[in-house]
Amino acid sequence: MRKISQQAAAQKEPGKRLLRLRVNGETKEVAAETSKTLLEVLREDLGLTGTKHGCELGECGTCAVLVNGEPVLSCLLLGVESEDGEITTVEGLMRDGRPHPLQRAFADLGATQCGYCIPGILLTAKALLDKNPRPGRDEIRQALSGNLCRCTGYTKILQAVELAAGRGEAQ
Ligand code: FES
Ligand code: FES
Repeated sequence: MRKISQQAAAQKEPGKRLLRLRVNGETKEVAAETSKTLLEVLREDLGLTGTKHGCELGECGTCAVLVNGEPVLSCLLLGVESEDGEITTVEGLMRDGRPHPLQRAFADLGATQCGYCIPGILLTAKALLDKNPRPGRDEIRQALSGNLCRCTGYTKILQAVELAAGRGEAQ
């Protein structure tokens, strides 16, 4: 069967456009509906399902990704609005096939229960540690205040970010 290009596919379907996104250091081209949020484009068109779908109202932080190093709620941003930024999702946290220091710290402390909130929390914590490698407990709590967890009491999550910071490898 002859392969149809993404561009041709976008032109054939009204409401779709060829998006060119930089995700986890790679350029991705996808024919996607212009009304789709970045969250939907990541999950449904790029298959990056690590970014979780929560409230869709900007209230839970589950969908957080980094755009140019800043945490962004991907449910509140259109895919077409994201073409100029460097996007990092949880799939992009591994380095040379090894988990990010934050991921190791969360695993070491058992700070994850169902895990649904954790991708957004990891990315928000990464943005914090990139700016402030030695945050205090209150600074961590403040940075993560927009990330809701339905499972834990937050204590282990805060401890895990502190552990990663204390190990000094998280930058
Ligand atoms: S799904 Fe985006 S903030 Fe809840
Ligand atoms: S670990 Fe379940 S929602 Fe946070």
